[in-house]
Amino acid sequence: MSVHKKVEAKRVTVMTLRAMKEAGEKIAMLTAYDYSMARILDAGGADVLLVGDSASNVMAGHETTLPITLDQMIYHASSVVRAVERALVVVDLPFGTYQGDSKMALKSAIRIMKESGGHAVKLEGGEEVKESVSRILSAGIPVMGHLGLTPQSIYKFGTYTVRAKQEAEARRLVKDAKLLEELGCFGLVLEKIPADLAKKVSEAIDIPTIGIGGGADCDGQVLVTHDLLGITKDFHPRFLRRYAELFDVIKGATEQYVDDVKSGDFPSDKEQY
Ligand code: KIV
Repeated sequence: MSVHKKVEAKRVTVMTLRAMKEAGEKIAMLTAYDYSMARILDAGGADVLLVGDSASNVMAGHETTLPITLDQMIYHASSVVRAVERALVVVDLPFGTYQGDSKMALKSAIRIMKESGGHAVKLEGGEEVKESVSRILSAGIPVMGHLGLTPQSIYKFGTYTVRAKQEAEARRLVKDAKLLEELGCFGLVLEKIPADLAKKVSEAIDIPTIGIGGGADCDGQVLVTHDLLGITKDFHPRFLRRYAELFDVIKGATEQYVDDVKSGDFPSDKEQY
């Protein structure tokens, strides 16, 4: 049961998120990649559904987010959009569709908006992607930034450990956050950075920050739904809280079904015509 005061919105927009930050209401964001799950998450009250390029890991089994294509992201996003009645749907621009070429970035973002019906796009990086951010925004497409651990740059970082622990990187991150706000981004994901740095960023900008491993002072939180539900099994970062153990539930149901089929218990007389 919710007891906190809420900014009322039949449909969540980028303006709603800003109002939530102003009112001190935390924003709850989750990833979604398909119609059936998105319906449940929307019904459960998630404010934002992120069609993350983590679909590359979670849905397709790749080791990184790099292989997923724009066509595949559009497929996932359009399934999510069809399910949603209230949540804002943000779609990740996949690796290789926006870096280093702002015209390509705009084309990619337009394809997402036109072909999936998503409401906004997200991309990773600060200063190095500013032309792409500006050009996409110039077409009226809302953009969310993503700083800290940016998984599309995993081969540059070498590991998935906490980012911006050193003073120089922390300073650059604050500068990038302010730049993204100035350019016109409506929000910012802060992934795996020290909590006191995420707090500093959240206080320094007026647009909402959404943390994943960014601590309690972010304006909202995001988790990968399959991690939160315990569908993925072998991922245990400190920031993850599991709210269910669905791997075990689904495996148990599968085992029962297999037993029932093999023993002839299923279908029963009542389960046939
Ligand atoms: O792709 C994704 O799921 C993300 C979240 C981790 C923020 O970008």
